[in-house]
This record gives sequence, C-alpha cells and structure tokens, in this order.
Amino acid sequence: MDIKQLNAFIAIADCQSFSLAASTTGISQPSLSRMLKQLETDIGVELIDRYHRPLQLTESGRFFYDKISALLIEMTTITSMTQRLSGPSKALNIGFVPSVLYGLLPEIIAALKRRYPDIEVNLKDISSYQQIEALKSGDIDVGMGRFAHQDPWIKQILLRHERYMVALPKSHPLADTRDQRLIDLVNNRLILYHQTHLPLPAPIEQSVADDSAPITEPLLHLFAQYGITPLMTTKVSDLQVALSLVAAGEGITLVPASLQTVRAEQISYQRLMHENVTSPIYLHTLRDVVHPKAPDLLAAIYEVYEQRGITYRRQQFV
Ligand code: BEZ
Repeated sequence: MDIKQLNAFIAIADCQSFSLAASTTGISQPSLSRMLKQLETDIGVELIDRYHRPLQLTESGRFFYDKISALLIEMTTITSMTQRLSGPSKALNIGFVPSVLYGLLPEIIAALKRRYPDIEVNLKDISSYQQIEALKSGDIDVGMGRFAHQDPWIKQILLRHERYMVALPKSHPLADTRDQRLIDLVNNRLILYHQTHLPLPAPIEQSVADDSAPITEPLLHLFAQYGITPLMTTKVSDLQVALSLVAAGEGITLVPASLQTVRAEQISYQRLMHENVTSPIYLHTLRDVVHPKAPDLLAAIYEVYEQRGITYRRQQFV
C-alpha cells in the first residue's frame, strides 16, 4: 500500500467515476484502475463496487475512506508544519473574527508595532472554524476568535471573558434602563447573527432529533441558561446586519461590550445584570509550531489590558 494508491482511491470515491477521477487527477484511467486493484489486493478487501453507476463504496470501503481521508489530511498538516518549523513565515499572519476587530484589535496591533517597529503583520477576516483549518494549512499563524476548539493540533489560550450588552433601538421603552434582566427582553424579536454554533457534547451529537438536545446557537444558549426562550427570533448573516436591523427598530440583540460604539447614534447599549453572560476571547496557535512573534503578540494584548484595567489571567506559550 502506498500514498499514490490511497490518493487514487480517494479521487475515485469522491468522483464516483474512473473517467472523472482521471480528468481531475491528471492520471490515466488504466493507471487509476491498476492502483485501486493493487490497493484492494494488498489489503484483501474490495473497496469499490464497480457494478453500480455511479460507482459506490462498499461498506468496508466507506469505513476505509473515512479513516484514510482523515489520515491524508493529517499528513498534509504534518508536512506543512514541518516546512514551517524549518522556516517560519516572515510576517505574522493573524486570523480574526469581526467582533474582535470592532473591539481592541486595532489598539493591540498598534501596541505590537510600537514594541517591535520592524514586525510585519497581515490581518485576515476569517471565521472561528475556518481559523483552525487555516492554522493547519499555514494560511495564518495565530487565530483570534470566540469559540473554544477541542482539536489535538491546536493550542488555545483563553484571553478573557467579555460581558455581553443588550443593543436596543434608541426608541425602545427599555433604551435608558441600566442593568437589564434577560427575562425582561423575552417579548422582543431577538436578532441572531452567529454563523458558528457551540459544539455539542459528544454523546448527544449522535442522537437524532432529540427534543432535549442542547441549544447550540450562542445567544439562545445564553437565554436557555436562565430557562428563557425568546418568543421571536430572526437569523441574519453577520453582526453588522444584526446591528443595522436593531438601528432600524426591527428587534434587539446581544453583543460583546466592545461593540458599543457601533451605530451609537441609533442604538442604545445597556449592561445586563447577569455577570456570567459573557463571550470568551481565545487566541489559537498550532500546538507544536508557534510562530516566533506569537509571544510578542500576547505581550501586546496584555499591555493593552493593563492600560485599560481589564481583568485577565496571564498565560504563556509553553
Ligand atoms: C480583546 O478584546 O480582548 C481582544 C481583541 C482582539 C484581539 C485580542 C483580544
């Protein structure tokens, strides 16, 4: 068994056709067919049922496909990591989610450049889940997001918890009320904007259409922690759209406190009285390949926290 045979098997399975696999891989059809036959002979199992069109995986073939494709992705990650160990990128490539950009990110980058005037930084707007793939492929060196990840390749540093605030139209009856309770917001249309959902605990993930399944939409999850279900919700594509709808009087939403300057002429941001209604901010890197400038970035983050009197627990790259 060799890697060429495994790649041939994956291509045939993905395309469900020898001819399509030949045109996507640039390997001739007879060669692909020979590689697949040799692989099946080596492991003594028929992987692809050739009697159906389009081609189908056998039951054993499906198992083999799942495991081998994960393994091939890991091999690509390992290769890319090995290359970066021998020569890290000159610039520090930072992936971030939009909600951190509205907050302290510009100030942190300014602090980093003040400390290290020669540092080269590239910023990329990229969702939490895509950051994990981008770290593995080498597209970014550091990711900043609001979701925890349980990935063996990834090191995660919790930077801080940021309090959520309620965003209401200026004309709303609660617009001037401080320290609000979630229960008092239940009759409003809640505008949801997260594209990434909270991970399900493993055993429940496998259960199908379970009424008691945990709520993974982050804002609904916050309400659910207090046994509250908002009466009406609207889902939009991102945070900017959500705040535009609030400004237009279409509903309310919850946003991390650092967003409270966005559309401040039309939106009133009020604190919630619940101290644990917070959004975490994480810094992610690869576990085994840490860009030499990543600790400098962490130092700049802590410098900004100190200047602003933000509570945090100092951590280090080890
Ligand atoms: C923060 O608001 O804590 C933060 C924002 C951007 C990057 C890192 C931290």
